Amino acid sequence: MLNLGVDLAIDLGTSRTRIFLQNKGIVVDEPSVITVDHEDNSIFAVGEEAYQMLGRTSDRFSVVYPLTGGVISDLGLVEAMITAFLRRVVSSKVSMPRAVACVPGEITDVEKRAVVNAISCAGIRKVCLMEEPVAAAIGAGLDISGPHGSFVVDMGGGTTDMAVVSLSGIAVSRSVKQAGNAMDEEIIKYVKRKYNMLIGKRTAEEAKINIGCVVKGMATGTHRIKGRNMITGMPMWVDLHSEEMVEPLKDIAEMVVRQIQDILEETPPELVGDIHDGGIVLTGGASQIVGMDTRIKVATDLRVIVAEDPRNCVIKGCGDSIKYIDKLKHPDGTLTPITDRF
Ligand SMILES: Nc1ncnc2c1ncn2[C@@H]1O[C@H](COP(=O)(O)OP(=O)(O)OP(=O)(O)O)[C@@H](O)[C@H]1O
Ligand SMILES: [Mg+2]
Repeated sequence: MLNLGVDLAIDLGTSRTRIFLQNKGIVVDEPSVITVDHEDNSIFAVGEEAYQMLGRTSDRFSVVYPLTGGVISDLGLVEAMITAFLRRVVSSKVSMPRAVACVPGEITDVEKRAVVNAISCAGIRKVCLMEEPVAAAIGAGLDISGPHGSFVVDMGGGTTDMAVVSLSGIAVSRSVKQAGNAMDEEIIKYVKRKYNMLIGKRTAEEAKINIGCVVKGMATGTHRIKGRNMITGMPMWVDLHSEEMVEPLKDIAEMVVRQIQDILEETPPELVGDIHDGGIVLTGGASQIVGMDTRIKVATDLRVIVAEDPRNCVIKGCGDSIKYIDKLKHPDGTLTPITDRF
């Protein structure tokens, strides 16, 4: 259990919530999912347990993702979810510590306030926000404190956040709601179209993780999916091949590539020069899809590197920034973790 006075970092992701405790590292990494019991409107399950119930509940329960596209869509449920996760790692006897939370680069002040409120309601005394691409860059091991541009692309579940980071801030950025979840939706549509078969979100996500690919000829493998035949209404299965996954996933990959090209066009020349040397760093769970790096490489003629442990870059960068929490002038303002500059 947590000792008094230990601060924490929170990455409230569309797909997963991660919590980092100072001096301990990542202590929570669970799906951002919650199961509500409608009989008494209570919380029945949270995280991994709730995710296992996705698509498998009776009328009495609903399984909800309370974040959509990187922003809170149900404040009460996010509060309940954070509270439940914190209870697992923080003793109820200790006074609640301070937290650094990251938010997508392009959300509104109202959306930011919702994040602060949700975390505060879970019992945290002080909440500081930082931009996700900055956290991703720090977590990927990039030195972003100097006047040198680094290009980071964080492909998560709900959003792909792209930014050129320099002097611990964002020089140019863009965020699109095309990432892992959109890929799952495309797989569901593809399977419906090609095999007249209905599958659930979890099945689609498993197929994507196992055999997802966005460049022809880069992956070989099959993955069995089970669902319902739309014509007979009977259960059926199909062995999907990685080669055919390119069709449902290529448009999303292409859209991300186009946005990256747009950012490069908008980036001041000195920073473009830095990116030419340093390349583009990919973070986030969906950046692991086979061929994503190759597609960007071919389109931009730049070096593209998938960061080590890409899923955890944001939370690691956020956790690393806890040490600057005291230097903040405005408790709810953006945290700018400029090393040695305060
Ligand atoms: N090996 C893999 N290959 C492809 N996709 C993957 C892989 N592992 C995880 N994913 C996908 O990555 C996404 C989750 O990534 P991540 O944990 O970075 O998202 P998040 O932080 O919760 O979302 P966001 O940042 O958009 O709010 C999910 O869509 C998941 O299916
Ligand atoms: Mg994320």
